[in-house]
Order: sequence, then C-alpha cells, then structure tokens
Amino acid sequence: MSVIAEHAPDVKITIVDINAARIEAWKSDNLPIYEPGLKDVVEKVRGKNLFFSTDVEGAIREADIVFVAVNTPTKTFGQGAGMASDLQYWEKTARNILAVSDRSKIIVEKSTLPVRTAEAMASILNSNDKGIHFEILSNPEFLAEGTAIRDLEEPDRVLIGSAQTPEGLAACREVVDLYARWVPREKILTTNLWSSELTKLTSNAFLAQRISSINSISALCEKTGADVSEVAKVMGQDQRIGPHFLKASVGFGGSCFRKDVLNLAYLCEHYGLHEVACYWKSVVDMNEWQEKRFVLRMLENMFNTIASKRIAVFGFAFKADTGDTRESPAYYVVKELLAERAHPVITDPKAIPEAKKDLADVLDQVEFTEDPYEAAKGAHAIALCTEWKDFKALNWKKIYEGMEKPAFVFDGRNLLDAGKLKRLGFQVFQIGK
Ligand SMILES: NC(=O)c1ccc[n+]([C@@H]2O[C@H](COP(=O)([O-])OP(=O)(O)OC[C@H]3O[C@@H](n4cnc5c(N)ncnc54)[C@H](O)[C@@H]3O)[C@@H](O)[C@H]2O)c1
Repeated sequence: MSVIAEHAPDVKITIVDINAARIEAWKSDNLPIYEPGLKDVVEKVRGKNLFFSTDVEGAIREADIVFVAVNTPTKTFGQGAGMASDLQYWEKTARNILAVSDRSKIIVEKSTLPVRTAEAMASILNSNDKGIHFEILSNPEFLAEGTAIRDLEEPDRVLIGSAQTPEGLAACREVVDLYARWVPREKILTTNLWSSELTKLTSNAFLAQRISSINSISALCEKTGADVSEVAKVMGQDQRIGPHFLKASVGFGGSCFRKDVLNLAYLCEHYGLHEVACYWKSVVDMNEWQEKRFVLRMLENMFNTIASKRIAVFGFAFKADTGDTRESPAYYVVKELLAERAHPVITDPKAIPEAKKDLADVLDQVEFTEDPYEAAKGAHAIALCTEWKDFKALNWKKIYEGMEKPAFVFDGRNLLDAGKLKRLGFQVFQIGK
C-alpha cells in the first residue's frame, strides 16, 4: 500500500488493523517489520496520502476500494485441520464491510485464498437489502519478504482476476489503472477470478517444489560424493530449468509456502483428486524430512551425543533480510536440539525479538545474543540456519579460537567457504556435500 501511495499521490490510502500495537508501530520510527527500503517509502508518504488507523469501520465506510490482506493461516481445528485455510478472519472482514457500507464498493482479495473463495464472499456481501453491490476482485500478492520493495516497484507481473461480467470488467479496469501508474501495461495480467486465486497457490507450490526437489537430490549427493552445488549450477544453465530456487538448504520456511502447498493439497482432496493431493503434500513432507536430517547429521558427527553441549544457532529468521521467523527451519532445529538436551544459543541480526516470542515456552533452556562471537564462545558446534551475509564476513579465526575442539560447523545454507574453514581447523558439513 505504501508503494501504491508513492505512485498515486492523488489517492488517499488508509491502512487499518484490529491490532492497535501494530498500527502504533507503523506510525512510529520503529516499524513493526524489517524490510529493506520499506522505511524510506513509508516516511515519504505517511501523513500525505498514506494513513494508519484502528478505525476499521470508518475507513471501510469512506473507501471506494477495499483491499483485504488479513491473515489466512492453516486451520488448526475441525474439518481440514492441518491443511485447509482458516478463513474466519476473511469472513469476519466481509461481514464487517457489509455491516458498515452504505454504497457500492470494489473489494480486492490480497490475501492468499483457496480457489472459489471470492464466490463465497460475493454471496455474503451481495445478500444485502441495502440496494448496494460489491464487486470482488482477486489481486494476489507475489512479493517475497526481504525483496518486497523491489518486487513491488518492478514486479514481474501484476495479476487481477475478475468476474467476466460488464461490472466485473469495469472494476478490474479501475484497479488496472491504479497499478498502471508505474507498472508497464503488458505486465498487468487479467484473468477470471478462479484462475487468479489458483495461480497464487500454484506459484508458491511450484517454488516450494523446486526447493524440495533439489533438497531430495542433496541427500543423494551426500551418499554418492556428488556435490549438489555443482549439480544445481549445471542444471540451472539449462534454459528450460533456469537457475532460481535451486539452492539446497536445511529447508524452506516463511508464512506462505507450507500453508499454501497444504491448502492446494486439501483443495485437490476436496475435489476427489487424491493422487494430485499426495503429489503436492510430498513437497511439505520432503521439507520436514530435510530439517530432521540436518539435526540427525549433527548428532551422528558429534559422537551421537549433544546432551549439555553448547550449540550456536546462526540465524533464526526464515531467510536473510527479514525479521520474520514464521515456519523458520531454525525453530525446528532448536526444538530438536532441546529434545537432545543440548544448549542452543541463538544469534540473529534482526529476529531475536521474534525468536524470544516463538520460544517463550523454553526460555530457560535457550540463550539469545545479537553478537555471533558471543554465541560461538565455548560452543561445540555452529548450526547455520539463515543465509545472512554478515555471517560470511565474520572473523572465523577468532570464532574457531573461542570454541571447544573439535569445532563443528553445520552450514544449513551452504553460505560459507568450506575450504577456508577447514584450513582454520573446523570440521565442516554442508548440505548435499
Ligand atoms: N507475508 C508474505 O510474504 C505474503 C506474500 C504474499 C501473500 N501473503 C498473504 O497475505 C495475507 C496476509 O499475510 P501477512 O504475512 O501480512 O499476515 P499477518 O498475520 O502478518 O497480517 C495480517 C494482519 O491482519 C490483521 N487482521 C486480522 N483480522 C482483521 C480484521 N477483521 N480487520 C482488520 N485487520 C485484521 C491482523 O491483526 C494482522 O495484523 C496471507 O493470506 C498471506 O498468505 C503474504
């Protein structure tokens, strides 16, 4: 929304949230999320045409277009628990929009939603006796955390799905015009509603699948003496395959991949496509196995016991350049280390506050520090879980000197120069090598 505000100075945008603390943070110097470049954009437009408020009803009443970006986590209860999307926040929002609106509006789905959700929303919203009409559009968000501003400023594509009726197409044109202020027209793609909803789920599923595919090959590389980085590099030069998302690692994280792939599998099951559901579910199973394998490898190489050993966990964010820890492989690694009664010490440049919240139930068994040297001091091993560039640039000689010997590095992101570390005396284990 701040990027839209930047490019559409004549459009007034009000961001509302029921979480008052978050809104306060958005109004302050200390934004609630870390994202490179975001602060600059927000500061440029805040108070001019971008406003933050907890007055959800007031902002809905005032708006011509309502973008809904509420959370759609995996359902934890009842039918579809563990796989389906929990749509309660979306439905509450739709009912709220209906209750307070006194004129027709365009409603834009920004959240990632199961295919045909717009239909359910339309039936809730348009079952009104106020004589007003709501046109539902789907405009899924393809940004990646860590590169969000760049992805929004120069998107590969913007997708807008609408009903193929005169009203639907007219609403679609309004939102196309909004993006066209800075996105070249040929990159703004329009489809029917269901294609748009399904495209977002399948895009995430394909990305996650690439990671699981290369991770499955990493296990085979470790057995055979092949090097997964070499294999991936050569494969990636095939234009039909391409180089992106072919990096083997401890596993993928983030709030979207797991939930969207499971949601896709659930949808397939719902439509009686059991084999298709199993195919996609295996992408998530492979990820869980890869995380498990990482800790098992640590255990096996550290003489089958890590009980009471200090283990430095380098990185807790689910990837570099974000403070977001949702579904982070590091969380799983820490929990497994605790199950083995090891003593994890977590270091991360941006994610320590979130890590403390995630590990609130085991705070007495874990240490946190922003200083990686401090974390590694007296440790038997380092488990590198996030590819922060800062870790590469550390003084590894100094780190080695402070550690128990033999000093182990388990590089879950293949970030470090293994040859250099080995020359310093470390025992180094990378993924797929
Ligand atoms: N995070 C990403 O990188 C990303 C990328 C693309 C798409 N998405 C999708 O966007 C959606 C939101 O993701 P997120 O990561 O921003 O989630 P989030 O949980 O960080 O934010 C959702 C916000 O919605 C607010 N909210 C919930 N119910 C509300 C209501 N009734 N009225 C007003 N506000 C309400 C919550 O308080 C919360 O602040 C999800 O569907 C996700 O799949 C996320």
